[in-house]
Amino acid sequence: MPIKSISAATRRRFLKGAAAAAGAAVFIPAPFAIGQAAKVKLGVLLPYSGTYAALGHNITDAMILAINEAGGTLGGRPVEYVKVDSEADPSKAAANTNKLVVGEKVDFLTGPVHSGVAMAMAKIVREEGTITVVSNAGADAVTREMCAANIFRTSFSNWQTCFPMGPEMLKRGHKRVVSITWNYAAGQEMIGAFRESFAANGGTIVKEMLVPFPNVEFQALLTEIASLKPDAVFSFFAGGGAVKFVKDYAAAGLKTSIPLFGSGFLTDGTLPAQGAAAEGIVTTLHYADSLDNPVNKKFREAFKKATNRDADVYAVQGYDTGKLLMHGMTAVKGDTGAKKEIMAAMRGATLDSPRGKFTFSKAQNPVQDIYLREVKNGDNVVIGVAHKALADPARGCTLA
Ligand code: BEZ
Repeated sequence: MPIKSISAATRRRFLKGAAAAAGAAVFIPAPFAIGQAAKVKLGVLLPYSGTYAALGHNITDAMILAINEAGGTLGGRPVEYVKVDSEADPSKAAANTNKLVVGEKVDFLTGPVHSGVAMAMAKIVREEGTITVVSNAGADAVTREMCAANIFRTSFSNWQTCFPMGPEMLKRGHKRVVSITWNYAAGQEMIGAFRESFAANGGTIVKEMLVPFPNVEFQALLTEIASLKPDAVFSFFAGGGAVKFVKDYAAAGLKTSIPLFGSGFLTDGTLPAQGAAAEGIVTTLHYADSLDNPVNKKFREAFKKATNRDADVYAVQGYDTGKLLMHGMTAVKGDTGAKKEIMAAMRGATLDSPRGKFTFSKAQNPVQDIYLREVKNGDNVVIGVAHKALADPARGCTLA
């Protein structure tokens, strides 16, 4: 049977069988195995191919950097990273999650980037109880109706990154706006959050354009935008798709006549490839490269040294994932059996992040500042705080 079609009941049988087999052997608690402390298995489900590949690499490398900076251990135990390429493909997400949770029996699971993958992953880990840290995907449901004591997020909810932009664009006199995004949960939820604050304050969305993920054929829609003549455009694209969209937008001659706005993913980790086409784009996000705090400066230097690449928002989220796991495991001195205590420590953590200090809401999602950024001379320059300490409304989450 392909692992993709394993049912919940089969998974339980699989685990029971494995436990029974283990019962026949002499049991040595993992952290106290003879010789060197036993390894902690950390499952990593991220994209290493396709339009989100660069995001997956930065999250992974920064997470490992955080753990290496603290001696390469979690709670005193060395770490075995078990990586699976998610391909940012929701149709493979259940099989890939099961591979790590059921097959590899990882102690912790991290990832993914894509909201559709996150939904499938959350469904499984809620049932299996694996402590999971979502290191990018913003799917609102993960910390709303699907929230669970064992699910944490170090990144953002899709809602958080776009809700502050509605009033900001109105303040700038943009009342008639076209939105354009990929047609999947992240795009729909980001546009939905923007619509919520934009329409409530008197703005009109003239047209909501949706492009199948991960397509990058924008020409026909750019022609339509030109004919609709909105005051501005609001969009979500990320990774390779964001590079292509921003370049096509400028090449179509729209950049000077119809200003482009978006969630910060549109210009994060992409500026060298976008070049002059990105100049002047205003976005909202929970990070900016040039944030002036010592943690950010130190982190950016260390990431550059370790990878020879520049850090971006994805790297920051990976770094904070490593820090959060460390916080939980330090509290129990590496005893992965003490799950309740690990989760309690993680829940109560204050992370001194390159984005600034943040805490976790009851739904275990960051409560964080959302910055207003503008691309100037190839840099996402912070021009204000669009919303201080913004918490996702966590509608439908029953965690108290
Ligand atoms: C998402 O699918 O949730 C997502 C992907 C890339 C950047 C931001 C969000």
